[in-house]
Amino acid sequence: MKSGSIFAFSPRFLNREYRLVGVMISQKMLDALNGQVAAELFSSNLYLSMAAFFDAADLRGFSHWMQIQAHEELAHALKIFEHVLDRSGRAKVGAIAEPPFSWESPLTAMEAAYLHEVKVTGLINDLVALAVAEKDNATFNMLQWFVAEQVEEEKQADEIVKKLKLVGDKDVGLIVIDEELARRGSK
Ligand SMILES: [Fe+2]
Ligand SMILES: [Fe+2]
Repeated sequence: MKSGSIFAFSPRFLNREYRLVGVMISQKMLDALNGQVAAELFSSNLYLSMAAFFDAADLRGFSHWMQIQAHEELAHALKIFEHVLDRSGRAKVGAIAEPPFSWESPLTAMEAAYLHEVKVTGLINDLVALAVAEKDNATFNMLQWFVAEQVEEEKQADEIVKKLKLVGDKDVGLIVIDEELARRGSK
């Protein structure tokens, strides 16, 4: 119970499960947002797994890029989690499936990352549609950040896929891309 709440000293409201869900945020919207928190956490684990895969292939730049990506996905999960708390919703951390361990090649891994982002864009679009249906403007507004973010996410992964396709199986090209990706996050 937040201090300063008008219910702070009312025994009836001491049970934390007794939140004013439905007034602040609909159950449908709440379930969907909790689901998205799990989806973002899965994304984070997926990219961590890819970071390990690239490191094992001695592609440290790719691994670095994926580790930053994993951090970003965790931040996405927390952004939605915090929105749920801000709206006095009851956040629930759901099960997260184990991500794949290995990929056929750097190209297949990056293609999987790109396709994963396309899938996440679909999930965000579904959430936006639900926010509209539920007349939940606050959630709609919060989600607009994710709509813009997904454009970037798809673009970044797609650019790396295209570069990998250009260099084909030439190791020298792979090394050049690896060095470029190693610079992610540095000025
Ligand atoms: Fe994300
Ligand atoms: Fe993402």
